[in-house]
Amino acid sequence: MKTFSSTDIKVCDGKDGAASYVAVEGKVYDVSGSLKWKQGNHMRRHQAGNDLTADIKSAPHGLDVLSRVTLIGQLKTETKIYRSTARAKTEAILEKHPFFRRHPHPAVVHFPLALLMMSSFLEISAILMASARTEWAAYLSLIVGIITVPAAIVTGYFTWWINYEAKGSPIINTKKKLAWLAFIVGLVAFMIRTFAVASPVELGETMLLIYVGTLLILSGLVAAIGFLGGKLTFPYD
Ligand code: HEM
Ligand code: HEM
Repeated sequence: MKTFSSTDIKVCDGKDGAASYVAVEGKVYDVSGSLKWKQGNHMRRHQAGNDLTADIKSAPHGLDVLSRVTLIGQLKTETKIYRSTARAKTEAILEKHPFFRRHPHPAVVHFPLALLMMSSFLEISAILMASARTEWAAYLSLIVGIITVPAAIVTGYFTWWINYEAKGSPIINTKKKLAWLAFIVGLVAFMIRTFAVASPVELGETMLLIYVGTLLILSGLVAAIGFLGGKLTFPYD
């Protein structure tokens, strides 16, 4: 049986007329003829040219589907050499606990997304209903939302370092800038609400209008960061 290195299969990604090879549990399969792997892409998520051993574990099917495609060889076992010892140590931990490789970022990001978008919605509702309790909920959403932004940033940088080898791309560079900007805008909104707005449910005060405007900008920022994140995980043309 032919032996392939990871570099051999990397070029067989199904793009620009190339064949589509995937590796699973040390075996290499040719999926070029499969209608489910057009141009090397499977379910808009998995790209040929890679070792998909970990990915297939989260598929709705088992390994039995591999009997429908052609087994063409085996994958050469390679000892990976990492540029830094920090990276090598982290990889060793992730080998033992693969959960931490991809899950922390998606698990954390929904907190700032939901809470910060909710804070502008609640604040506007509070003004419309002249409800101090709803306004308090908006304020708390803002505070907890801001606290969760650094967690999203830390896990974001982590997933970028581990899964993208810290390589920049237009989407990632924009995400990084917008994430820090969202944190700053969040802090500014908090300062305005805490120290400058006298009556947070009655329109008529310039500072309240500025506060609502800042919350809306914040909602837009986190929505844009989340949208860009989704484009990384679920790319589309
Ligand atoms: C969450 C991710 C995945 C989803 C949602 C998914 C979904 C599907 C579906 C719906 C089918 C068609 C099943 C049928 O015809 O009965 C299929 C087939 C298949 N899948 Fe996946 N899959 C995923 C991940 C993977 C991965 C990582 C591999 C790795 C090699 C893989 C390999 C295959 C193969 C070889 C087939 C058979 C293709 C054929 O019949 O031509 N899948 N998958
Ligand atoms: C407020 C801050 C952030 C939010 C709300 C956010 C949101 C998201 C969302 C919704 C996804 C898609 C998750 C999924 O369902 O798979 C995602 C993915 C991603 N984000 Fe972020 N993100 C933030 C900050 C960052 C930062 C600072 C980076 C650093 C570069 C980053 C890097 C990534 C990467 C690489 C992915 C791809 C998925 C992965 O490999 O885990 N994010 N982000």
